[in-house]
Amino acid sequence: MNCSNEDLGYEPTPIDLEIPQLFSDNILAPIIPNNNPLTIEGVALGKKLFFDKILSEDQTQSCASCHSPQNAFTDNTPTSAGVDGVFGTRNSMPLFNLAWNYNERFTWDGKELSLELQAEEPVQNPIELHSDWNDVVQKLQNHPEYPELFRRAFKTSSITKVLTARAIAQFERTLISANSKFDKYSLGQTQLTAQELNGLDVFLSEDKGDCFHCHGNPNNPLWTDNEFHNNGLDATFTDLGLGAVTGDPSDNGKFKTPSLRNLAYTAPYMHDGRFSTLDEVIDHYSEGLQNSSTIDPLMKKVDEGGVQLTNEEKANLKAFLLTLSDPSFINNSEFMN
Ligand code: HEC
Ligand code: HEC
Repeated sequence: MNCSNEDLGYEPTPIDLEIPQLFSDNILAPIIPNNNPLTIEGVALGKKLFFDKILSEDQTQSCASCHSPQNAFTDNTPTSAGVDGVFGTRNSMPLFNLAWNYNERFTWDGKELSLELQAEEPVQNPIELHSDWNDVVQKLQNHPEYPELFRRAFKTSSITKVLTARAIAQFERTLISANSKFDKYSLGQTQLTAQELNGLDVFLSEDKGDCFHCHGNPNNPLWTDNEFHNNGLDATFTDLGLGAVTGDPSDNGKFKTPSLRNLAYTAPYMHDGRFSTLDEVIDHYSEGLQNSSTIDPLMKKVDEGGVQLTNEEKANLKAFLLTLSDPSFINNSEFMN
């Protein structure tokens, strides 16, 4: 006996992520949950949902409104306004290489424990899509195309919140960025300028920039440790970050280390978007550090205000950081609506 709308003879087409050579040479396999393997149909459905304003209360916003492909899937405002025009307190985050987030904690404070669970959140968040999952599921169910697309992806046209989030997570796992100038340099395909190489030296030197402990190195193509640190932005905290999630005061002021890939497209910077340029970010680490009880021990020169770079070292560091941006990622038509 066959259910009316379920075609049991049909299987979605599995796909493997195309893992860049630099990733397979240096880091572990991507995290793909057993209950949500990637399929051609699932990724296509997730992409359509990601760009579809049907997920918002008044049909004015989609995920892409705050996560736009040309900004490496973030937006260009310090904090983003949701459908009601109310601004949150956090900077939208760029989305790439998410399948390699080994600690499986998402958002600036780590409150979301998987991509699937994260995808459920914006739909009902009053400062984001401010909708209701029952309404969204109903709208999708009554849509001329979605029931068939869910049937192809998940072998059922009974749409649910969980399946909607799974499809979006599948699409998000395909957002891989691994083709920056620095990636090509690592693969021996291009040269860096003397200035960029000097900037790499500032980044990697304990007695200069000392950035690599948290933001990775040429053997970590993610350019983040995916951990939570207090990098000395404030002496007192209006946003407790990880501390509000764990309830542990020693986590106050800690936020997820962002990847340094694609900085050319992701301004403004930090969890609250307080810095509009990379120069301001570099000045912060050089002489703007604020001390507090939870500041990371790796911010070794906090008593001097920071790592004290010369103007030349700052310019070199910035030139190096910009080699980590990947124009092919923001121009990839597979990732556009
Ligand atoms: C109104 C703007 C807005 C909308 C709409 C929005 N987001 Fe976000 N997104 C954010 C902000 C801001 C953060 C950081 C949240 C925080 O730290 O609390 C974020 C964080 C994330 C993260 C965490 C990334 C990481 O590296 O930890 C993911 C994944 C994500 N959003 C996916 C989505 C998806 C999927 C949708 C649609 C269902 C969506 N977002 C809709 C603004 C938005
Ligand atoms: C102790 C760990 C640590 C060290 C060392 C460190 N950072 Fe960071 N970095 C972080 C964290 C955590 C954040 C996010 C902080 C926040 O938003 O509250 C961050 C944010 C940034 C950002 C903003 C990125 C974005 O997308 O918003 C840039 C750029 C950056 N760091 C560059 C550097 C450079 C350059 C150095 C060396 C001079 C450095 N960092 C040293 C942990 C560190």
